[in-house]
Amino acid sequence: MIAGSYFIFHYSKSFDQQDSVDSNPGLSINSAVTDSNGAALYLQNCASCHGANLEGEVNWRSPKADGSLPAPPHNQDGHTWHHPDRLLFHITKFGGSSVAPKGFKSNMPAFQDVLSDNEISATLEFIKSTWPKDIRQRQKHITDKDAESSRQ
Ligand code: HEC
Repeated sequence: MIAGSYFIFHYSKSFDQQDSVDSNPGLSINSAVTDSNGAALYLQNCASCHGANLEGEVNWRSPKADGSLPAPPHNQDGHTWHHPDRLLFHITKFGGSSVAPKGFKSNMPAFQDVLSDNEISATLEFIKSTWPKDIRQRQKHITDKDAESSRQ
C-alpha cells in the first residue's frame, strides 16, 4: 500500500508541473468518439501486463528488484481511478516515463505510435466501463476538478 501511495503522489505531482498538456484540446476522453473496440484494443495492447481481467501483475504493490514497478490493476483495486482522464490519456499516449520522477525506470510503454487518440480513448473508456458506479462517479469528480483547475 505504501509503495502505491508514494507512486500516486509522484505521478500527480510531476504531471501538474507539465503545462504543455493543458493546452492540448485533444486530451479529453469524454469528447472523443468512443470506439466499441475498446475491449479488443485492451486485450491486444494492455492485457499482457495489466491482466486479461484488469487484475494487474502479482504483488503489484511491491517494487521489483531493479526499482521498477509491476503493472498495477485497472480494476477498482488499483489507483487508475484516482487519476483524472487527462492524466490517464497522457500516461497511455506518452508512457510512464513522461510523468514519473526523474531517474525512475518505467515499464509502461508509450502508445503514441501504436494507437490513435481515439483508440486510446476507447481503451480507457473500456477500462472505465468495468468499474462499479460509485467508483465511476468518484473518478468523474476527480476529472471535473482537474478540468476546473487547468482552466485557471
Ligand atoms: C509492458 C507492460 C505494459 C503494457 C503492455 C501496458 N502497461 Fe500500463 N503500466 C505498466 C506499468 C509497469 C505501470 C506502472 C507505472 C510505471 O511503471 O510507470 C503502468 C501504468 C499504467 C497507468 C497508470 C496507472 C496508475 O494507477 O497510475 C495507466 C493509465 C496505464 N498503465 C494504461 C495502460 C494502457 C491503457 C495500456 C494498453 C494500451 C497499457 N497500460 C499497457 C506496464 C504496461
